[in-house]
Amino acid sequence: PLRVAVLISGSGSNLQALIDAIESQQLPGVEIVLVISNKANAYGLQRALKHKLPAIYIPWKKREEVEERISSLIRIFQADLIILAGWMRILSANFTAQFPQRMINLHPALLPDDGGSSYTTSDGSVIPALRGLHVIEQALEAGLKVTGSTVHYVIPEVDAGPVIGRSEVLIEPGDTAETLQEKLKLQEHHLIVEAVRAYSQQ
Ligand code: GAR
Repeated sequence: PLRVAVLISGSGSNLQALIDAIESQQLPGVEIVLVISNKANAYGLQRALKHKLPAIYIPWKKREEVEERISSLIRIFQADLIILAGWMRILSANFTAQFPQRMINLHPALLPDDGGSSYTTSDGSVIPALRGLHVIEQALEAGLKVTGSTVHYVIPEVDAGPVIGRSEVLIEPGDTAETLQEKLKLQEHHLIVEAVRAYSQQ
């Protein structure tokens, strides 16, 4: 079986999508063995507990200490794959280098295969590759017509790394950061499940 650790910072709706997929036998051989949050009040922790999954809150103090604790937990729970599903803290190169090909990130913008600074959408528009925090707001401010989400392997460089999958979302007049976030999440719930399925079958 593929043992998965999920790192969250907030609502955990993508964690829920994974839990639901596993419980409805859509991800055979996949098991969530650990959920870690850097926020005590992350709703995702409650989702985990409701499904009897080990859920651990690690307050964010010194980065190295937090990373040390996360590494130990990953070892203790014998997680094969680590999923950053709404994890809002940058992890050091020292940390990420411990898990080559074993850590994936969900990012609410479209990222290119080559780590470059732009992405060409399916309708041929060239848009900036938005990295870091607040990319949903940035997509709106830039007046983009299309945005989306990307699942990719984590490498030391932030929001780069080989792409596993993407989904595009149209930005419509009247969209706000909140409405766009909701649309992105709806797509992400499929995207993340498909990414884990592909990973588990490789
Ligand atoms: C998702 O939209 C994910 O793409 C984004 O946070 C949201 C988490 O939603 N991730 C990042 O911004 C990473 N920097 P969820 O907690 O409901 O799964």
